Amino acid sequence: MDRETAWTHVSDAAARLRSRHLRDLFADDPARFDRFAFNHGALTIDFSKEKIDTAALDALLALAHACGVEAARDAMLRGEHVNVTEDRPALHTLVRADDPAPAIADQRARMLEFAQSVRSGAVAAADGGTYDHVINLGIGGSDLGPAMATAALASWADGPAVHYVSNVDGAHFGDLARRIDPARTLILVASKSFTTVETMSNHRLARDWLARAGIDAARQTCAITSQPERARAAGIGGDRLFDMDEGVGGRFSIWSSVGLPLAIAIGADAFQEFLDGAAAIDRHHASAPLAENLPVLLALIGIWRRNAMGCAATAVLPYDQRLARFAAFLQQLEMESNGKSVLADGRPAPRATAPVLFGEPGTNAQHSFLQMLHRGSDPVPVDFLLAAEPTGADAQAHRVLTANALAQSAALAFGQPTPPGQPHRAFPGDRPSTTILYRRLDPATLGALIALFEHKITVQAAIWGINPFDQFGVELGKQLATALLPAMDSGDFSAFDGSTAGLAARIKYLTAKSG
Ligand code: F6P
Repeated sequence: MDRETAWTHVSDAAARLRSRHLRDLFADDPARFDRFAFNHGALTIDFSKEKIDTAALDALLALAHACGVEAARDAMLRGEHVNVTEDRPALHTLVRADDPAPAIADQRARMLEFAQSVRSGAVAAADGGTYDHVINLGIGGSDLGPAMATAALASWADGPAVHYVSNVDGAHFGDLARRIDPARTLILVASKSFTTVETMSNHRLARDWLARAGIDAARQTCAITSQPERARAAGIGGDRLFDMDEGVGGRFSIWSSVGLPLAIAIGADAFQEFLDGAAAIDRHHASAPLAENLPVLLALIGIWRRNAMGCAATAVLPYDQRLARFAAFLQQLEMESNGKSVLADGRPAPRATAPVLFGEPGTNAQHSFLQMLHRGSDPVPVDFLLAAEPTGADAQAHRVLTANALAQSAALAFGQPTPPGQPHRAFPGDRPSTTILYRRLDPATLGALIALFEHKITVQAAIWGINPFDQFGVELGKQLATALLPAMDSGDFSAFDGSTAGLAARIKYLTAKSG
């Protein structure tokens, strides 16, 4: 079947199902859970509360076949140059493989050995003691993955306290630096390109902070980059320099040396379990038939929501406090990868691509934006994440948490009849959701969850026909900021538009007033 015919079949299924309430779908087929919940090890993904039926899922699977999802997956896993616009491979699965190429194995071994040495005190702080703190300076992919994972694996974090500073706003570094001892702090400068303005600016602040305390910054600073010459030029080299491959995309890079702060926090063994959990999903994705392939199914449900049901947003609600930064991590993974309206071959994309993604941990979300998800004018599909058991948290509280997660997905799907004369109390229901259930949030599970979503977005990219591995959309703003800096010094904004010039003049006026 060709792509367009496959898309037509998906649209036909949507036309048939759009007006059918989830209540009716469950009434017609009470065994929907058995049909639409899929297990892999201790992972269960329940799609039964999505507005699909067997014929719709078949149409989506036919679309995946027609779009060459398997060929795209295999090319990526083989290390081919699937990043066509930058003529590069996408090596994240090869970096976390359990039998990596020798160069990758060396990088991993060096990174894990160093992490262990920091933890044990063999790599000592300026005063000869063990490091109490590590500050990772990085942004985007050089921050979000490790920061999210360090918080997620708090129960495993028995090394130095690891902090993350990303924003070019000096308050981010300054507010942390005020509270900790520079003599006992290791600085990691994580930047694949080693040019990113935010990270270079924070490196300057860190260098000055260490220097003011009389500490040799070069001794107490590491670099993680695919541009080692640039790091050396900035005075970081030798055993403080950790390489990463050019072919590992920033938002996919936590498995590489970018994972160093996480490895320092949780130790080499737990980090290896984290890699193993992801590699197990890679093997599943590589071999399971599409109809049982969890990342493929997750991707297809996303396509169904976006292109068949017309939903422009998705909420991610981890009922797991330690996944508080998971939505922020997914925002980069999904929106930087698939937030594109040009196909890989340069033609305009004929269909909508990545939805807006947002989220907060449950139950906090219940007391902020869940009102809109239950009763707003636009249905917003939800991905719930839930652990069957807590990791080091109170068991009774976990039961309350679990009950709330299950209650929310049921309330969204089924609603309730409106009390007579009280339309403001209406709960219409018919709001789709997927629930991702895992035994507990341990390193292997976290690795599996991240890998699941990584493959979800590459499968969707194959279906939409876009390249998920470039990010040219971030360039223009960077160029304009660079051009604005000298104008801010000279006060000459004549090269800029009226609004930009007007705001800059106003900033000057306000600064002069307070000075
Ligand atoms: O935001 C653009 C981007 O290039 C991201 O893709 C990347 O993760 C981030 O900046 C940081 O880049 P680097 O690791 O090169 O500092």
